[in-house]
Amino acid sequence: TSGGSDAMKRRAGESAAAAVTDGDVVGLGTGSTAAHAIRRLGDRVDAGLDIRGVPTSFASRELAVEEAIPCLDLPEAVGPDARGIDLAIDGADQVATGSEGADNPVSGGALIKGGGAAHAREKLVDAAADRFLVVADPSKESPRLDRSVPVEVLPAGRTAVAAAIREADGEPTLRRAERKDGPVVTDNGNLVLDCAFGAIDAPAALAATLSEIPGVVEHGLFVGLADEVHVGTESGVRIDEA
Ligand code: A5P
Repeated sequence: TSGGSDAMKRRAGESAAAAVTDGDVVGLGTGSTAAHAIRRLGDRVDAGLDIRGVPTSFASRELAVEEAIPCLDLPEAVGPDARGIDLAIDGADQVATGSEGADNPVSGGALIKGGGAAHAREKLVDAAADRFLVVADPSKESPRLDRSVPVEVLPAGRTAVAAAIREADGEPTLRRAERKDGPVVTDNGNLVLDCAFGAIDAPAALAATLSEIPGVVEHGLFVGLADEVHVGTESGVRIDEA
């Protein structure tokens, strides 16, 4: 979840944070780019902005608390008597630029997420938001999605899900922890299979296939969810409607 220049990530994060207005309920994404947005929102709260944050992970909640941004849990933010989430700001591991054409049906703004193993809660929050703003630097952009897709699985289902992924022409690898002997355990107590499919020509179809596998809690393909992509560049920010 690193790479790209920090200055470009900051421009993207700060651009998205500028879209937040007084009274908003804001989904707070995970990763180093979304962290720039959260810190800018912290500065704006300091200066009097009245918002509630809805964190997408342990890490984003920790940062929001440090920045004194008042927070709601997702069940408090969404429901018949709740006001809902006005906008969500979140990073991505890869963003399809959607160069349309006969050989590339991938629509712009399809994402791969979950490099930080937070994609299950991220998808809940990002999908619930009226507007979802993706923040990225140019190193994340690609005409086609071709990175591994993180798939969060119930621990007891890891081998059955791995077999189903192979059936779907994917190569699953259990994500291992760096400073512990054993697997990465998500904020939800589950495991992650990083699944290589090569270039993904039809992300929506693959997303549906993955969602149907018993034991899959959530996968990192986000198709049709992004509204805007804020890309920090050397000289400024480019905002693409997705
Ligand atoms: C977390 O699981 C991911 O979906 C992150 O949003 C993603 O890894 C982006 O992180 P960076 O902004 O640090 O690249």
